[in-house]
Amino acid sequence: MKRAKVPVIPVRKAVSGLAPYNAPKEGRAKKLRLDFNENTVGCSPAVMRALSRMTAEEMAIYPEYQATTKRVARFFGVRPAEIHLTNGIDDALHLIADTFINDGDSVLIVEPTFDMYRFFAELAGARVIALRYDDEMRFPVDAVIRALRQPPKRCPRVLYIANPNNPTGTLVQREELRRILRAASRTLVLVDEAYFDFSGLTILPWIRRYPNLLVARTFSKTAGLAALRVGCLFGKPEMLAAMRRACTPYPVNSAALVAAEAAIGDPRFLRNYTREVLQSRAMLEKGLVSLGARIYPSSANFLLADFGPVAKRLVRALERKGILIRGRRDFPRDGFVRISAGTRADTRKVLRAMEGIL
Ligand SMILES: Cc1ncc(COP(=O)(O)O)c(C=O)c1O
Repeated sequence: MKRAKVPVIPVRKAVSGLAPYNAPKEGRAKKLRLDFNENTVGCSPAVMRALSRMTAEEMAIYPEYQATTKRVARFFGVRPAEIHLTNGIDDALHLIADTFINDGDSVLIVEPTFDMYRFFAELAGARVIALRYDDEMRFPVDAVIRALRQPPKRCPRVLYIANPNNPTGTLVQREELRRILRAASRTLVLVDEAYFDFSGLTILPWIRRYPNLLVARTFSKTAGLAALRVGCLFGKPEMLAAMRRACTPYPVNSAALVAAEAAIGDPRFLRNYTREVLQSRAMLEKGLVSLGARIYPSSANFLLADFGPVAKRLVRALERKGILIRGRRDFPRDGFVRISAGTRADTRKVLRAMEGIL
């Protein structure tokens, strides 16, 4: 294997030890993109109109956040001081690490989950304690609570929960979250609700009850703004104020602000897309089962399916037909794929192609 050239200035130890994130390949436009849980139809036309009205002068001015923050806060039913706009949830994770994680701290995750939790924690020099979903993709709530009740020195600084989780699609129920938050007296709990629109379960109002809770949302999924990078963090005003001290002055660009406002100004588009995806997911579920895959009940806009030994061939053959799904390597054995639910027409297309291959 070719060794990476050592840079003149050695990088931090935390950086040289990092496993690189498996980002989407280039050239995905015009293909059927069922590999990264994106919106498959594009954003609302209202967003495109708002962007086209931006002026050359607006491009020359550093972004201003107050008005958009107010409107987005109202949309989510919180006060402006309870929301912080970020460059996607990825940026929120970076900010959490920058604000709260010291070199050598530990953080808690339950794998398989969204890779970026581990990535930013390790980048900050944290030790990652990783529990695992069991073979039935059940969340190990008792083990999580035991880990949170460790003596102060061994207690994790941050617990990351994606709810629904990516890639399992599973949901931690409200009562379990309540038990976790009660046990987390010394731990910051991030509940990442990137896929909330498809699950309908949120604990966003709990930010007023639990001072150690942060909730994250994104415009990358239903709103179809993954390219523009907009997300939100919700929490107690004091906690967000502390985080802003560690934040860059302009994390979200002006086009993203305009797009986010236009997206929430078209709630019908958001509702219709969500409804379409839920119908499409039900169709995908049925179709995958009839193709012989084991699937796991999903509350998100994707399904995890176990195809066993044919999975690799399936992913490659679909790719040759211009249909992208995601093979998963973060399971104890091969065979798992994650397939996004786009529109019903997308689902019909991928199921028909799979039938042909299998
Ligand atoms: C659980 C979860 N959180 C966050 C993200 C990324 O969100 P954003 O595009 O806002 O950075 C993803 C993307 O796939 C995800 O699966």
